[in-house]
Amino acid sequence: MTSQGTPTPASTPNAEGNTLSQSRDSLVQSTIERIRQIHRDDGITRESLASTAKILEELAENKALFSLELYPPPASGEGSHRFELYTQPDQSYALYLNVQHPGKNSVPHDHKTWAVITAVQGQEINRIYRRTDDGADPQYAKLELEREVLVEVGTSVAYLGDDIHSIHVQGNQPTLHFHLYGRALETLTERVAFDLETGAVRPYNQSFWKPNAG
Ligand SMILES: [Fe+2]
Repeated sequence: MTSQGTPTPASTPNAEGNTLSQSRDSLVQSTIERIRQIHRDDGITRESLASTAKILEELAENKALFSLELYPPPASGEGSHRFELYTQPDQSYALYLNVQHPGKNSVPHDHKTWAVITAVQGQEINRIYRRTDDGADPQYAKLELEREVLVEVGTSVAYLGDDIHSIHVQGNQPTLHFHLYGRALETLTERVAFDLETGAVRPYNQSFWKPNAG
């Protein structure tokens, strides 16, 4: 994938004298700080990640800062762009804006860190799997579909590091979704993907997850 579609934040100051990109950066910074405070207070749990999702849903309400005009999908009409919005200096928090055309799918995989996915616009099916084998063989896993979540405005999904999911973008509109991770994705070298047919477990392509735009 290429870097086509680099966002071009408007440079015209608003009433407060801030440009759109300054407003965005300031809001992203304060959002991350609110989330970090929750994690400092409560640790990383299903509950604290649910609170994290609520805060990201607030951020997603700022449609003027996060739009397909500013963050366009690939001009080819297929595939996806991943824009990096924020990475903590120690790479412990990383927020991306993923823009995906319908037809974009992933194989089941884990993240080896926590993750929250929140929609600004568009719909992405997340299939969530459970392992039914004993986990003894690092190269084999038997998965069962546990449930599906349609991620859309107001419905986020959150994962702990060992949770397994796949994504499926359907319909006819591109998605614009926040992906917040507990580590910058390019630092995650231990992630694995799962073959539903054969049970094979293999490394998940690291380069696939590098920001490819912005
Ligand atoms: Fe994922």
